Amino acid sequence: MVEAYWPQAEPYRIKVVEPIQLLSREGREKALERAGLNPFLLKSDEVYIDLLTDSGTGAMSDNQWAGMMSGDESYAGSRNYYNLARAVEDIFGYPFFLPTHQGRGAENVLFPLLIEPGNYVPGNMHFDTTRAHIELAGGIGVNLVGEEAYDLSSEHPFKGDMDIPALIDFIEKKGPNSIAFILMTVTCNSGGGQPVSLGNMKRVQEVARKYDLPLFIDAARFAENAFFIKKREPGQEDRPIRTIIREFFQLADGFTLSAKKDGLVNIGGLIGLARSQEELLQKARERLVPLEGFITYGGMAGRDMEALARGLYEVLEEDYLAHRVGQVARLGQKLLDIGVPIQQPIGGHAVFVDGKTWLKHLPQEQFPSQALCIELYLESGVRAVEVGTILAGRDPQTGENIMPPLDLLRLTVPRRTYTDNHMDYVAAAFGKIGEKREKIRGVKMTYEPQILRHFTASFTRV
Ligand code: F0G
Repeated sequence: MVEAYWPQAEPYRIKVVEPIQLLSREGREKALERAGLNPFLLKSDEVYIDLLTDSGTGAMSDNQWAGMMSGDESYAGSRNYYNLARAVEDIFGYPFFLPTHQGRGAENVLFPLLIEPGNYVPGNMHFDTTRAHIELAGGIGVNLVGEEAYDLSSEHPFKGDMDIPALIDFIEKKGPNSIAFILMTVTCNSGGGQPVSLGNMKRVQEVARKYDLPLFIDAARFAENAFFIKKREPGQEDRPIRTIIREFFQLADGFTLSAKKDGLVNIGGLIGLARSQEELLQKARERLVPLEGFITYGGMAGRDMEALARGLYEVLEEDYLAHRVGQVARLGQKLLDIGVPIQQPIGGHAVFVDGKTWLKHLPQEQFPSQALCIELYLESGVRAVEVGTILAGRDPQTGENIMPPLDLLRLTVPRRTYTDNHMDYVAAAFGKIGEKREKIRGVKMTYEPQILRHFTASFTRV
């Protein structure tokens, strides 16, 4: 079942265009050979429609571009910093905030202040850089998302929800003293852009309060999450998006945010802290200066802070959100219509194609979703990204490839960047691939980096 939230057309008109071009089949073959069959290593000029990520790839509005011209690039006390502070307090209800260069900058400043070596950080499902920063601070990230998250066909409306009994069980077993904080990622990116319900967040907060544990939000896609709450959670349908966001964030002690998603900007990040966190704020400020920059810019230009201050409001517009989430759902529905297996319900920022099931003639050792990414680019010039066995890497103890239960291809849709025609083209490419999918060959690595191998590995066909 796909919810039809989309209005008839994009809720904006286009004032500036950036030409894109489709290379010939021969050109695409050459480009991919040069990239070692790894779409990450393609030049963006070789890509026709780029669905690698929704991070920093969106289009800004005329209002945001106008804001760029009023950038105050003073080293200290920029007026744009104060505009951003007002937006953060107004939208999230947090009096304290620090700007950072992007989401992982916020994680790098905050996490070492919260984590003692050996501490656990339970969450629904941590994003890669988030897990990396937990580990760099000596902590251990633990995913306690509900079981439905791993069942691609389950229609559960809130597959990003934390498994509350599992959380309580974990805290009881390890002892509250060994837990640094609880982290809720909204929407749950690694679980397919799946939302967290307000009800679940309230229960997580009750647990956090009971055991006296700090509760933080990884808020990259906070507005998409609130939109799903409004559309799917009983009793929420008549509440404004802003009210839902306020209530959701009041349950936590703070957040880290990659502004490259729902901030509607190309670069930037935030740490937000509740009033009770003044002591933490002081310590975070001290770390911010050497790591990111002075407290009133923290890695962002004045003009970028202004664009973000405006983007944070634009993302709350319901027309925008309905089209945004609807465009992704529409692409997913087109794929379902032609028999391509995808994760359901369809997430907020991406469609996740079940490459392992669709290319069932390929063993998982031959990286079916990577083989599909390669075929998709050759067929159509569309760039997607594997979220599966290559991303999972090797077991540090045994050195064996980890075989994750899901081997997916992510079609990540940038915000306000492509029209529904582009999405139709992507769906048509899958239609063409479908006719010959049994002939797609698997791949093996010819170069495998030790860490984060998916970015720079090279492949050859088996
Ligand atoms: N948290 C989540 C949930 C994310 O999705 C990301 C980035 C980050 C933190 C890190 O933020 O990139 O600004 O440093 N996700 C991107 C993606 C890269 O493609 O999903 P960042």
